[in-house]
Amino acid sequence: MARLLSSITSFPPCRRNLSELKGLFWIPTGFLLGIYLFIFFHVSSTMKLVIRDHPHHTHFYITPKLSSSFNTITSIAANSSRKYAVQVYQPKNIEILHVNVSEPPLIITPGPEIIVTTKRSDVSRNNSERSRRGDQEITKGDELKNKQEDIFHDRNLFLEDYKEMNTSLKIFVYPHKPNDPFANVLLPYKFEPTGNYASESYFKKALMTSHFITNDPSEADLFFLPFSIASLRHDKRVGVGGIQNFIRDYIYKVSHEYPYWNRSGGADHFYVACHSIGKMAMEKAVEVRGNAIQLVCSSNYFLQGYVPHKDASVPQIWPRQGDPPKQQPSKRKKLAFYAGAMNSRVRESLVGLWRNDSEISVHQNRLKTPYHESLLGSKFCIHAKGFEVNTARIGDALYYGCVPVILADHYDLPFADTLNWKSFSVIVSTFDIPVLKKILKEIRFEEYISLQKNVMKVRNHFQWHTFAVDYDAFYMVMYELWLRRTTIRVY
Ligand SMILES: *[C@@H]1O[C@H](CO)[C@@H](O)[C@H](O)[C@H]1NC(C)=O
Ligand SMILES: *[C@@H]1O[C@H](CO)[C@@H](O)[C@H](O)[C@H]1NC(C)=O
Ligand SMILES: *[C@@H]1O[C@H](CO)[C@@H](O)[C@H](O)[C@H]1NC(C)=O
Ligand SMILES: *[C@@H]1O[C@H](CO)[C@@H](O)[C@H](O)[C@H]1NC(C)=O
Ligand SMILES: *[C@@H]1O[C@H](CO)[C@@H](O)[C@H](O)[C@H]1NC(C)=O
Ligand SMILES: *[C@@H]1O[C@H](CO)[C@@H](O)[C@H](O)[C@H]1NC(C)=O
Repeated sequence: MARLLSSITSFPPCRRNLSELKGLFWIPTGFLLGIYLFIFFHVSSTMKLVIRDHPHHTHFYITPKLSSSFNTITSIAANSSRKYAVQVYQPKNIEILHVNVSEPPLIITPGPEIIVTTKRSDVSRNNSERSRRGDQEITKGDELKNKQEDIFHDRNLFLEDYKEMNTSLKIFVYPHKPNDPFANVLLPYKFEPTGNYASESYFKKALMTSHFITNDPSEADLFFLPFSIASLRHDKRVGVGGIQNFIRDYIYKVSHEYPYWNRSGGADHFYVACHSIGKMAMEKAVEVRGNAIQLVCSSNYFLQGYVPHKDASVPQIWPRQGDPPKQQPSKRKKLAFYAGAMNSRVRESLVGLWRNDSEISVHQNRLKTPYHESLLGSKFCIHAKGFEVNTARIGDALYYGCVPVILADHYDLPFADTLNWKSFSVIVSTFDIPVLKKILKEIRFEEYISLQKNVMKVRNHFQWHTFAVDYDAFYMVMYELWLRRTTIRVY
């Protein structure tokens, strides 16, 4: 080998030819460089066009770019109605809250976050002055605000897409025999949805009576895995301990009896679960967790198991009949309200810090007065994470026209790729519980009116119906599914 190499390198004619070619080398290189630059400029000048051709890929809600410089953020914020500041959390903050390392969701907040600051020197008007000025000015400010802050990120895109979804989306549901021993946990939708996890049953009920269902798997965009985590949990033959095996066996069956699972590794399959036990349910069926679309209420993107954009967040909503009541913002005397069990550090710190406050009303016990009176009598209603990021409180607040304050870090909020949560809620980092009152008090009255009006506009998207109604929670979930089917279609 060494001899061969030396004979090649010492071959004189070859060396001479190479040195002569060196000059010529620059001609094709320069030519290629020119082409490369041309392509580069062409691509960058037409980039917008390319992106516009694929709206679904840019449609997802993306949090502000934190990588952009501090200056950019502050200069944009300076002209918007609220001021923002970048706050890098130091261990100091952790001490303030007495947070323990044993609870990961609070301790780990990597990098900077954007919070609403509370300094507003330009707002000197007080409440009595506001009410004296009457409605006229409020309406003006409101119109202005509504132009800026729609409840949708992009209303036109949504409406256009929605129509297409409504006419084209097709779902195949894996069937089972009526005498299947587990018929009770497969599609148990024939009862009235009740309780905290009603969203799951409502979705199934509405799906099975909808026009999205197809009996022809070849025309299906998506395949529904109809097991109910909640029913499995209560079934004595399965129970909490047996759910994982059940799911593993179910997927085995589906992947052996039908060709569709193997075709995509499960990527065009979905299931729905509102109870957070669903998180553990897929441990022995890793393909479900990794590939399938998980429609879940406990959409915590901090913990392993939920993947934003692949999976989708379903709102947890307490079932309610009839039209929601109306209450004028001026009749909402309390600043903020919270009541609930003390099952998380967030709740402990919220109640611990604000329980004696005259304006923020927080309770760790069941209230003596009816729950809905507090929801109707408060400007803001606090959703504080418990065991999980999700509770029915956001749905409660919206139903009663109360602006939700979300104290649940890492919560992938329902329909966040479609709805602009900032326009109808206040999202507060759990580190800011000590300054919660300041944050809420410095939201200007006009801003509050805008938030509250948007709450009224958005609440039809957070209502379930036994027979789905356009744009209700069911259709919104279908829309989320439709967005996902465009990105995972497998041929
Ligand atoms: C903010 O407003 C000022 C004056 O109205 C303008 O000069 C500046 O460019 C605006 N900044 C941004 C980021 O829009
Ligand atoms: C932190 O956790 C340890 C061990 O669980 C406990 O002894 C301690 O009291 C906790 N500290 C706080 C501030 O909760
Ligand atoms: C509120 O504004 C009114 C009218 O401008 C003024 O008379 C009153 O003193 C103010 N109250 C407070 C608490 O600043
Ligand atoms: C969606 O489809 C249903 C059933 O065909 C129809 O009744 C409804 O009007 C459609 N909604 C929209 C917004 O097109
Ligand atoms: C799907 O893949 C599994 C594992 O490779 C295989 O055992 C099974 O037969 C396949 N199913 C079908 C329907 O071909
Ligand atoms: C609230 O009031 C109780 C009883 O007066 C007192 O023990 C507690 O320290 C107060 N808590 C706060 C956060 O002010």
